[in-house]
Amino acid sequence: MTASLIDGKAFAADIRAKVAEHVVRLKEKHGIVPGLAVVLVGEDPASAVYVRNKGKQTVEVGMKSVEHMLAEDASEADLLALIETLNVDPEIHGILVQLPLPDHIDSDKVINAIDPAKDVDGFHISNVGLLGTGQKSMVPCTPLGCLMMLRDHFGDLSGLNAVVVGRSNIVGKPMAQLLLGESCTVTMTHSRTKNIQDVCCQADIIVAAVGRAEMVTADWIKPGAVVIDVGINRIAPEEGATKGRLVGDVDFKSVSEIAGAITPVPGGVGPMTIACLLANTITACARANGLSEPEGLTV
Ligand code: GUN
Repeated sequence: MTASLIDGKAFAADIRAKVAEHVVRLKEKHGIVPGLAVVLVGEDPASAVYVRNKGKQTVEVGMKSVEHMLAEDASEADLLALIETLNVDPEIHGILVQLPLPDHIDSDKVINAIDPAKDVDGFHISNVGLLGTGQKSMVPCTPLGCLMMLRDHFGDLSGLNAVVVGRSNIVGKPMAQLLLGESCTVTMTHSRTKNIQDVCCQADIIVAAVGRAEMVTADWIKPGAVVIDVGINRIAPEEGATKGRLVGDVDFKSVSEIAGAITPVPGGVGPMTIACLLANTITACARANGLSEPEGLTV
């Protein structure tokens, strides 16, 4: 392996420590306890694990954690009523509705019912618009984590060729906006892109968020490029194993022989997402109380 490893686990621990310091300061100086509400509809096992982890880490940094678990058949009206209650609750500074929602609920309607100032996911149409026009917004957690790691690695990203693989609202699109904001030359690619390998071969930075196990291989990589792997895919068990391994959207083994730096899976982008959610909750809490923006937790 020639690439250096970008350690998301250590980076995330550092962010959580900073968040915990801010929590102490908010409590001691202002008597404020930041609060995060997470809403889960249904029993999707992966979502339940995420929600549990979010709750645990929220409490560990000293914030108030509220979890609302709604049944799979909860109505859209029930969910909207819950959001309205959270919107007006002064002890709640951040609201996250875990996605995906069941098919009978209109996700866009639900996301856009959240008070944009409490939208710690940064998915509300107002925050999307603010980010796209370079204004202060809530920034989606996973792309925020990726950008923090890239800034830490490069310092200045200006003029670099960045290729984003994947065009989701959660990662690909906001990631491209953030990289544009850093003055990168940004190319968006996706499952229909022609000559995707040739496009990726021009990249100084690749952010892979396409949801296809090990799709990005060594022959897509310019020597020395920095590769951020957002994918989490469980592959079929190998012979003799009972459980399949977790792999990213990048073929780590081959790509790490040619890239300059790479995030592993697990232990790369994954831990950064929840850390950035906690960071966004602090940011939302500070803004709601007219306090200065916390340093090092936002872009
Ligand atoms: N489901 C998968 N990723 C996310 C995320 O970042 N936020 C929410 N709300 N749901 C998700």
